[in-house]
Amino acid sequence: MSRRIAVLISGRGSNLQAIVGAERAGRLGGTVAVAISNKAEAAGLAFARQAGIECLHLDPRSYADPRGSVDRDAYDRAIVDALHTRSIDLVCLAGFMRVVGAPLLSSFVNRVLNIHPSLLPSFPGLQAQRQALEHGVRVTGATVHLVTDHLDGCPIVAQAVVPVIDSDTVETLSERILVEEHRIYPDAIRLVLDGRWELVGRRFVRLPEESAPRPPAGS
Ligand code: GRF
Repeated sequence: MSRRIAVLISGRGSNLQAIVGAERAGRLGGTVAVAISNKAEAAGLAFARQAGIECLHLDPRSYADPRGSVDRDAYDRAIVDALHTRSIDLVCLAGFMRVVGAPLLSSFVNRVLNIHPSLLPSFPGLQAQRQALEHGVRVTGATVHLVTDHLDGCPIVAQAVVPVIDSDTVETLSERILVEEHRIYPDAIRLVLDGRWELVGRRFVRLPEESAPRPPAGS
C-alpha cells in the first residue's frame, strides 16, 4: 500500500506543490493524503483543495488554556489525532510556522521532516536567507532534515548549495534557494520512505541498495 504523507503548511505552499507534482510524476514513493494548516487563509490550502487533496485547518486559538494563550501540547495532540485518524506514515513540515513539540515528535519518531532555506547548521531560525546575505557568505542553500529533539541539530537528509552573488537581494536569493528546495524535498521524502537508511548518532546514513528496508519507526 502506498505510504501516506501529511504536509503541514502555513502559507504559500510552493513546497507542497512540488511534493504533489513529484507524486503525480511517480517520483515520490508515497501519497499526499492531507494538507494541514494553522492558517485558514494559507494559499497552499487553496492549491490542495483544487488538487483534490483533503485539507484541514486546525486553528491554534481553539486550543487556548484558561489564561487565553495557546496550549501547545493540546494543539500538538490535535494534530497527532488527525494524523492517526488518517493512518499517516510521514509528516512533512513545509513552511509550517509553528514549533512542533513532544506530543507529535514522540508519536512520529524519525518520521517528521522539515525543509529550511539555509545550509544547516548555519543560519537556523527565521529569515535564514537574510541572515546569510547579511553575514556575507559566498554559498548558502537548502536543507531537508529529520525533526528530532536533538538539542544541537537534527539529522540532515539532503542539502543543496546555492551560490550568493554580489547583486543578490533577499528576494533573488530566496527565489534561487526555492528552486533547490523544490528539487531536494521530494527526493528526500522518497529516500526516507524507501527505508534503506539508519541514524548513526546524528548522521543519516544510506544503506546499500541490497539491504532490507527498515520497518517504519514510531507508533
Ligand atoms: C520555504 O522557504 C521553506 O524552506 C521555509 O518556509 C518556506 C515555505 O515556502 N521553511 P512555501 O510555503 O513552501 O512556498
